Amino acid sequence: MPKVRVLNLGSQEFEGIENQSIMDVLYRHGYELDSACGGHGQCTSCKVIVLEGMENLYPPEFEEAETIEEKGLEENERLACQAKLNGKGDVVIYLP
Ligand code: FES
Repeated sequence: MPKVRVLNLGSQEFEGIENQSIMDVLYRHGYELDSACGGHGQCTSCKVIVLEGMENLYPPEFEEAETIEEKGLEENERLACQAKLNGKGDVVIYLP
C-alpha cells in the first residue's frame, strides 16, 4: 500500500490506497487540513510541498492545473485535496 510520510508531523507515515487524495489519507488518520473551498481544488489552503515521490501521484487534472497556474504554485507544490496516489510508491510531503 502506498504511504504518505509527513516530514513535519514527526515523519509519520500514513497508509493510503490508489486513487486516494493526500487530504483524504490524512483525514482518515485524524489530520484535517484547511480546506477553504471544501476540497474542490479552487483555493490553495490545502497546498502541500512534495519532497519525494511526485512520480507516485497522478498528474494534476483540469481543476488543479488551473489553480496551480492561476495562483503561481511551484513545481513541487500540489493541492492535497486533488493530488491522488497512483499506487506505484510512497510520497513524502511537508505541510507549509
Ligand atoms: S481545499 Fe481548496 S484547493 Fe484543496
